[in-house]
Amino acid sequence: MSPEVVAHRGASTRRPEHTLAAYELALRQGADGLECDVRLTKDGHLVCLHDRTIDRTSGGSGVVSAMTLDELRRHDFGSWHGGEPAEVLTLEALLGLAADHGTRLFIETKHPVRYGSLVERTLAGQLDRHRVDVVMMSFSVFAVHRFKKLKPEVPTVLLYDRLWPKTRPRFADYAGPGVHLLRRHPDRGQGVYTWTADAPADIALCRERGVRFLATNNPDETRGHLADNLTPDQP
Ligand code: G3P
Ligand code: CA
Repeated sequence: MSPEVVAHRGASTRRPEHTLAAYELALRQGADGLECDVRLTKDGHLVCLHDRTIDRTSGGSGVVSAMTLDELRRHDFGSWHGGEPAEVLTLEALLGLAADHGTRLFIETKHPVRYGSLVERTLAGQLDRHRVDVVMMSFSVFAVHRFKKLKPEVPTVLLYDRLWPKTRPRFADYAGPGVHLLRRHPDRGQGVYTWTADAPADIALCRERGVRFLATNNPDETRGHLADNLTPDQP
């Protein structure tokens, strides 16, 4: 079976990452799921941002956890990428978009962060108010563990970067190896979540190994490569 295509930070090659425009394009391109990173603002809102600061992805600068949502809203998160000006995207808005389209949302909590476990507690509370198919993810084993205790019904992914242990804790429903780990372990990959595969050979590798969820910055091209049925050793 072909992997499900998950738009990593939206269609983030073509649009500025984590903006509404990036997610709307991903949906138009037929992505099966949407991925986002979340961080807590000073006043307790979950916003979709990858970095600790807004310096790389906006016209401004500052630490996300030290800014209120209103302060973040004064900055433009689109123009740095050459796109239209864009407001910071709240998780609330992204949940609304995912609900409207019936699309699965993969939400990654970042750690270590100033607010620690409050991130997972806030996320769990927010999900209670929405009917969205969600998967929770983190590189932090502690974050995945405490979220599973709060919301046992929500599937979880434990992400792996440097090492990919043979066994995973019971509270992690899926392993989430980077595609570099898939290359390193020729006998593994069945049923996992893999990030971030954009190159044709990596996409072919994911399909060949039986990866279940494939995170990509380029949903339309990735769908095309999957349809082409390439093998990993083809250029
Ligand atoms: O989908 C998981 C992947 O996004 C983890 O890496 O740094 O892009 O959040 P990062
Ligand atoms: Ca991420």
